Amino acid sequence: MPKTVLITGASSGFGYNTVLKFQREGWNVVATMRSPEKDQELHKLDRVMVTRLDVKDRESIKAAVAETIEKFGSLDALVNNAGYGVAGFLEEASDEDIDNQIDTNLKGVILVTQEVLPQMRKQKSGSIVNVTSVGGSIGLPMIALYNATKFAVEGLTESLRIELEQFGISACSVAPGAFKTGFGHNSNWLDGNAKPELDGLRESFQSHYSAILAQPPKPFGFGDPKDVADLIYNCVTGTPSHRNFIGKDAKMLTFLRRFLPQKAMDKMFKDSILPKGW
Ligand SMILES: NC(=O)c1ccc[n+]([C@@H]2O[C@H](COP(=O)([O-])OP(=O)(O)OC[C@H]3O[C@@H](n4cnc5c(N)ncnc54)[C@H](OP(=O)(O)O)[C@@H]3O)[C@@H](O)[C@H]2O)c1
Repeated sequence: MPKTVLITGASSGFGYNTVLKFQREGWNVVATMRSPEKDQELHKLDRVMVTRLDVKDRESIKAAVAETIEKFGSLDALVNNAGYGVAGFLEEASDEDIDNQIDTNLKGVILVTQEVLPQMRKQKSGSIVNVTSVGGSIGLPMIALYNATKFAVEGLTESLRIELEQFGISACSVAPGAFKTGFGHNSNWLDGNAKPELDGLRESFQSHYSAILAQPPKPFGFGDPKDVADLIYNCVTGTPSHRNFIGKDAKMLTFLRRFLPQKAMDKMFKDSILPKGW
């Protein structure tokens, strides 16, 4: 009997590539997305069910999990991948900006995990992979809210890993650096509560950061999202570490952080992320 994986945010990027990886490996795959009607390819594949799931909508999560069990009879792995980035001065975030980011990147992971756990407990086995970020263990300037959600998911994962062991369920995170996906395009500005005093600074950051997101980051360039999909698959089928960095940039940053003084790290982030002269 093939095993079954449910993946959130499967319409593009890591989620899309992870659907393809599990499908190629012979799994049943539940490719969930907010707008399944837009899917052109995935629903044509054998053993792939495309269905609606918005991580901010508990009813849609319940329905997708029920549909999974009805169609495939089990739910062996969950990949909490859906998410997006926000950048800007924290002070300028509106309540809506804050709620959207936390509800998608953090609460979404909590809700989907809650709905999947009873089935995994019943089966006495299961595997949960949470896609975080290198920004889930290193704080970078002007993405504080995004950092906060990813740090929180790292904490959630670390705790759950121990809590769930008794039920035969594993939990780990996959923490990528910069990869070429829809991420840059789907990122939002934190400017719903714009302050006139920050006019000028905001615009100079936005144009600088847009260029950063669009260009391959130096010195390594973008990573290939297929490598993230492979790592997620290996985490589900192997014996993963609790936190799995991927991408040359992510590995270099975590290495440097162990050895460089904080001031040197701060300078590196200022030089690479903030506009000149800040
Ligand atoms: N690419 C990178 O460099 C990078 C680095 C570190 C971490 N990450 C993390 O990797 C994960 C995947 O991002 P990606 O790089 O593959 O970017 P992506 O191509 O933009 O994919 C993000 C996916 O999340 C979905 N999504 C957003 N809000 C959702 C919601 N409320 N409910 C369900 N799905 C939702 C999007 O669906 P729609 O099509 O409906 O918008 C899309 O399928 C994210 O958690 C991101 O933070 C990415």
